[in-house]
Parts: sequence; C-alpha cells; structure tokens
Amino acid sequence: MRIVLGDADVKEGELRAFEHGPLNVCVARVQGRLKALDDWCNHAGCLLSGGRLEGNMVVCPCHEVGFDLDTGENLTSPGVCDNQTTFEVTEEEGKLVLNTLTPG
Ligand code: FES
Repeated sequence: MRIVLGDADVKEGELRAFEHGPLNVCVARVQGRLKALDDWCNHAGCLLSGGRLEGNMVVCPCHEVGFDLDTGENLTSPGVCDNQTTFEVTEEEGKLVLNTLTPG
C-alpha cells in the first residue's frame, strides 16, 4: 500500500502529525532518516506527535511511555501497554510516502 501523506518538509528533531482518512501518523526525522508510527498511543489514545523525541525514541505526552521509532517497541514501560504500530516511510519528489504497514 502506498499513501502520499503530504510534503516531506519534516525537520530534524521535529515531530509532525499527518492525517489520511482514518489514519493518523506521527512522523519524525532522526539523523536525516524519516520514521513514522501510529500517532494514537495504544495506551490511552494520546497523540504521540504532541510528545517529545529522545534520540530514536518518541515519548508520549500523557504517561511518558517511550516507543522505538524503528520497531515501535515499548522501551520504557513493558506491560503497561503494547508496542506501537510503525510504518515504512520514504521521501519521493518532496512528498512523504507511506509504503507498507508493519504490525506493532
Ligand atoms: S496515552 Fe500514551 S502513555 Fe498513556
């Protein structure tokens, strides 16, 4: 599945929210690489794009669970909630393209 989310002008160290139909995606750029995961935290539904980046981890703004941006693994609070769904994302001609879905 390929979905064009929008312009790929995500800056280094920034978290950005994108919507496509029912899909809410949190996108970050870390060391030049784009990363994406489901924006709705699977713990209690807060938006991860409102959280913060710590290296390759996004920290949820509500209860501070940290998820690995590559794997979606819950790195800080195992047992509190599941891993987060991640997406493969690329930049094509200035656009952000979601390529495949990866189960979290
Ligand atoms: S809603 Fe994200 S950690 Fe609770």
